[in-house]
Amino acid sequence: MREAGRILAITHDELEKALKPGISTWEINRLGEEIIRSYGCVPSFKNYRGYPASICISVNDEVVHGIPSKKRILKEGDIVSLDAGVIYKGYHSDAARTHGVGRISPEASRLIQVTKESFFEGIKYAKTGNHLNDISSAIQAYAEKFGYGVVRDLVGHGIGSHLHEDPEVPNFATKKRGLKLQPGMTLAVEPMINAGRYNVRWLDDDWTVITEDGSLSAHYENTILITEDGPEILSKA
Ligand code: MF3
Ligand code: CO
Repeated sequence: MREAGRILAITHDELEKALKPGISTWEINRLGEEIIRSYGCVPSFKNYRGYPASICISVNDEVVHGIPSKKRILKEGDIVSLDAGVIYKGYHSDAARTHGVGRISPEASRLIQVTKESFFEGIKYAKTGNHLNDISSAIQAYAEKFGYGVVRDLVGHGIGSHLHEDPEVPNFATKKRGLKLQPGMTLAVEPMINAGRYNVRWLDDDWTVITEDGSLSAHYENTILITEDGPEILSKA
């Protein structure tokens, strides 16, 4: 899983460099798949439950699971969430980043920053003996301080020899403390944060999730390993 994570992190770094006004989301997907396969890995999203591409690309008010298209051309000021998964020797990694295209508004840039920070706030609690809900509540508390909406309808997840495993990892506090964290557990922690309200809806393509109020949305995700001395981020270069 470390190797799957490392290759995924490299893929994200390369894709970030390619994000320029004028590029289509189809081209970013093509490039992402090419990079993943160049390491002898398989893009885990492709054909997952019928998803038609390797990289989920979600622009502006799209929250997650946007479908790449030749017709979707990125322009200066857009914010773009890239979400990808890699399988290396049967083991999965999953990670997402949101980037700005060219110059973006201060509001957009703050949303991206706070979403990333909320992940790091959450994983401060990813320690042996803590409970899942400690991570979830920390993410929510941090993002809500900025007046943002924490998406409820989608959650993080366990990950390993499958992309999605138990347990669910919500980005908001629940009434249950959740599972007790133990060394060796691997989780995909992935705050999805809206500039406006938390409500989302699905487009007719049955994949793309958008904010109900049209506000911008950002996503930040890493695959982490719980160790005796805290979390290790696996999806890093
Ligand atoms: N990264 C997404 C998740 O965290 C997976 C996308 S599912 C796909 O669970 F079908 F779109 F690939
Ligand atoms: Co995920």
